[in-house]
Amino acid sequence: MEMVNIKIEGIPYQVEAGLTILEAAKKCGYNIPSLCAFNHGECNQGSCRVCLVEATGARGLVASCVYPVNEGMEITISSPKAVAARRSSVELILSNHNRNCQECDKNEYCELLDVARRVGAREDMFPGEKTPTTYDELTPTIVRDTSKCILCGRCVERCKNAHGIGILGFENRGFNAIVGPAENRSFINSPCIMCGQCINVCPTGALMEKSEIMKVDEAMAQGKYVVVQTAPAVRAALGESFGMPVGTPVTGKMVAALRRLGFKKVFDTDFAADLTIMEEGTELLNRIKNGGVLPMITSCSPGWVNYAEYYYGDQLDHLSSCKSPHEMFGAILKTYYAEKHGIDPKDMFVVSVMPCSCKKFEKVRPQLSADVNGMADVDAVITTRELARMIKRSGINFTRLPDEDYDRDIVHDATGAGHIFGVTGGVMEAAIRTVYYVLEGKELEGINYMPARGLEGIKEGEVTLQGKTIKIAVASGMKNAKVLLDQIREGKSPYTFIEIMGCPGGCINGGGQPYVRDTFMPNEDIDIYDKYLQLRSKALYSEDERAVHRQSHNNPDIQTLYKEYLGEPNSHKAHELLHTTYKERVRFD
Ligand code: SF4
Ligand code: SF4
Ligand code: SF4
Ligand code: FES
Repeated sequence: MEMVNIKIEGIPYQVEAGLTILEAAKKCGYNIPSLCAFNHGECNQGSCRVCLVEATGARGLVASCVYPVNEGMEITISSPKAVAARRSSVELILSNHNRNCQECDKNEYCELLDVARRVGAREDMFPGEKTPTTYDELTPTIVRDTSKCILCGRCVERCKNAHGIGILGFENRGFNAIVGPAENRSFINSPCIMCGQCINVCPTGALMEKSEIMKVDEAMAQGKYVVVQTAPAVRAALGESFGMPVGTPVTGKMVAALRRLGFKKVFDTDFAADLTIMEEGTELLNRIKNGGVLPMITSCSPGWVNYAEYYYGDQLDHLSSCKSPHEMFGAILKTYYAEKHGIDPKDMFVVSVMPCSCKKFEKVRPQLSADVNGMADVDAVITTRELARMIKRSGINFTRLPDEDYDRDIVHDATGAGHIFGVTGGVMEAAIRTVYYVLEGKELEGINYMPARGLEGIKEGEVTLQGKTIKIAVASGMKNAKVLLDQIREGKSPYTFIEIMGCPGGCINGGGQPYVRDTFMPNEDIDIYDKYLQLRSKALYSEDERAVHRQSHNNPDIQTLYKEYLGEPNSHKAHELLHTTYKERVRFD
């Protein structure tokens, strides 16, 4: 690795050649304020001018996020000229900003607020007219408020990089410039897949998930039987919101907090992940045996399902008909569980805590919104971030909570296979563990299926079943999924089974997870995003290793559910409650 010698504030350092001044400074422990620069070059518009510094060899001040270091460069962050310029840049942004920080859901994690504090921004330094505002809350998932947009372009780049569909872009010029879907339409009139990746990277409150905390409050106030389930990836990230090290699994504390928040029962969605494997695995085996449509593709990511309906409407018969785990769980709670406990399902209110903002949309899909005797499977979805907000407002000291177990009830058990659903490749690995057992009559040796592991965008592997080798593939992020889907469309896919997740890396990186904020971690590695995902995925694999049962078919509560209620996987009853349909959608483009 080529290194260069530089000086920052008169102190000599050696850093990698090719880094920007901002990145080099970060590696040396200097946190230069920045806004539009993001994730090691993912977004480098050089537009906000918040990161200005002096550097030898440059004329005037330079934007440190785009200017590369070179041999012998001397960088000054602290000169009065640089300090004043950074402050002016922030003041200019604030002059066109709706500063209702007290009510803004982003306030605790707002990078603009943080930067304004750090540069010592003064009030109303550039008074005048403000750009007309668009406020879009028509989707069940995302709220866009342009009065808080700083035109940094991060969301534009993230949508493009993750999915290659470029829903967001810059419109108009100069004072009237805004960022949004084409022609400033609502998200609802665009082929946005509602993954929430843009929310994750927005430094301000311009893009937010649509909160459903009030719905939960109301249901509790009305005395409903409010139960909650938590998806696998939530436990791997929730602790970050309470200052715990990234990658700390907090299952026990999360359960304890939910109980104290007043939920009548606290369940693990991983139970339903096991149920999904039983249903999906059986569906795959039936397709193989009966010459059904192959490759079969997983269907538990609603972002991916949206993408399929918008962009590959001619290939929908490749999707498994299985509902996603939390929807399956809702259906089981309002039937089997309610019947067993003598609860009127109309009094039951099912809340899902999800790492995914798109699950808010999924629960109101026309196919799912009145699916169980005219009722929705799930009544409210709150993200990991919303759960953290609920815990904080309640005054609970999260880190002091004891570890508690999910409610020991007829839908309690969950296996390691269910835990790993939260990371790319996890559904595939869980399915292979069970499909292998069904066909070979013995457990997969070593249990782990390594080809499905890792955070690469596309992975592939093979597995030999009854003497026949089949190929599998795993993709996350729609840009990667497109490669596999185009092969299918062209009739050239070598695969039998494919797992697709909407968000790059899977649910650990879902659009409702705690924000990855490198400005809050000055001395961290510059590839902080990758590091977060690695640590979160490690947390889930460690939960899998610790589990008593690690294969879905060995889940005792699932076995009882089939024996007492569903009959067998893919039975008529199972189809009625646990499966769904898809429909091609108009793209508006
Ligand atoms: S986006 Fe940030 S600066 Fe703007 S209102 Fe919200 S908290 Fe305040
Ligand atoms: S929600 Fe996803 S698809 Fe929609 S604009 Fe944001 S990043 Fe793009
Ligand atoms: S919506 Fe957010 S991420 Fe997108 S340009 Fe505006 S401030 Fe930046
Ligand atoms: S962070 Fe450098 S110009 Fe915006």
